Amino acid sequence: MSHGAPGHLPTYRIATIPGDGVGPEVVEAARRVVAAAGARFGFTVEWSEHVVGGAAIDAFGVAIRDEDLEACGAADAILLGAVGGPSWSDPSAAVRPEQALFALRGELGLYANLRPVRVHPGLVASSPLRPELLAGVDLLIVRELTGGIYFGDRTEASAEPGARSALDTLPYAEHEIERIVRLAFELARTRRGAVTQVDKANVLATSRLWRRVADETATEYPDVRLNHQLVDSCAMLLIRRPADFDVIVTENLFGDILSDEAAVLAGSLGVLPSASLGARRTVHGTFGLYEPIHGSAPDIAGRDIADPIGTILSAAMLLRTSLGRADAADAVEAAATRALDAGWRTADLADPADPADGLVVVGTTAFATAVIDALEAGAGAGVAA
Ligand code: NAD
Ligand code: IPM
Ligand code: MN
Repeated sequence: MSHGAPGHLPTYRIATIPGDGVGPEVVEAARRVVAAAGARFGFTVEWSEHVVGGAAIDAFGVAIRDEDLEACGAADAILLGAVGGPSWSDPSAAVRPEQALFALRGELGLYANLRPVRVHPGLVASSPLRPELLAGVDLLIVRELTGGIYFGDRTEASAEPGARSALDTLPYAEHEIERIVRLAFELARTRRGAVTQVDKANVLATSRLWRRVADETATEYPDVRLNHQLVDSCAMLLIRRPADFDVIVTENLFGDILSDEAAVLAGSLGVLPSASLGARRTVHGTFGLYEPIHGSAPDIAGRDIADPIGTILSAAMLLRTSLGRADAADAVEAAATRALDAGWRTADLADPADPADGLVVVGTTAFATAVIDALEAGAGAGVAA
């Protein structure tokens, strides 16, 4: 933030990475919502935009340029859409869009990926689960983001069919486990006080280390309940008894998989936000990268039908955590809720078989406008069509 002359509005610097596929569409939606929040709460945003991912491979031959990585790290926070897509998915390609994600996460030290899962009452019908299973669902997946099999050494398969082999390795050092488990305990204290540590300790040595470190750290948090759960049965329980979970802490790969599964509880992959955080503090809060948990959705890209809720809620997390603007964050979340309450839906959340359900199916841009209208109207005002 630059502290201008008296009377000038505070200005925050947000680096945006629209990326590929639906990324640019959902980032534009969230950006408009943040700008509207600034107008209401008296701040401005200095935006920068970075070509990263498949778009950067096409333009520059790399998934992310050093100067873009540096500029992103120098901002107050980063808002990312998604990267990747079929044009860059050749398994033999040496340069892949997803490498940009690992560079951002790894180089910027963003080891903690928070993925909150709540169920808006109006979206219960959008989930394939029975409504009674969804009552009281409010969980937080704390995914380790800069270690494990994503960052371990690997050997690609050689070219000769018949004798090919490949190798991925899954390393975890104690300090990498300790800091993320500690964060999970701290967050549980602000919630319902329960941590489920998820692993595959019946097979993996790293999982057994996770268990030991979690148990040792737990002695410092006697007020928090810790239990261990194997990842396979956890995947089942997430659907069978989702309301039982408070904070789930787990390694990189398991967290990736379980969070897409958890999106089914919330109604669509399009609605879940995330924050990736590290140790670095800025003058306003904790530096972070914010993105929906979904990918570039190439099957629906370019049609203005992607659900922007996950990105809008990611922007709310950005406002709260990196900019210290709980006022604007609360208002954005409330506005998204009111837009849903009023019946606005993108196609992923509507049931085409029930045209008499009172919902208004709109595109990405119009949904964002409904959120902005709700934001500008403030609490208590309706936005129904
Ligand atoms: P995906 O998340 O892109 O899509 C899975 C399904 O969910 C698709 O049917 C898609 O249409 C739907 N969906 C996703 N987001 C939606 C939204 N906002 N609104 C409505 N529907 C939505 O997963 P995928 O198809 O397995 O991956 C596509 C590409 O995205 C791959 O290249 C993958 O590597 C990349 N990816 C990137 C990120 C990221 O940038 N952080 C995350 C996940 C996947
Ligand atoms: C995510 C994505 C990425 C991940 C992919 C695109 C590498 O699925 O952010 O959840 O696995 O971390
Ligand atoms: Mn994922």
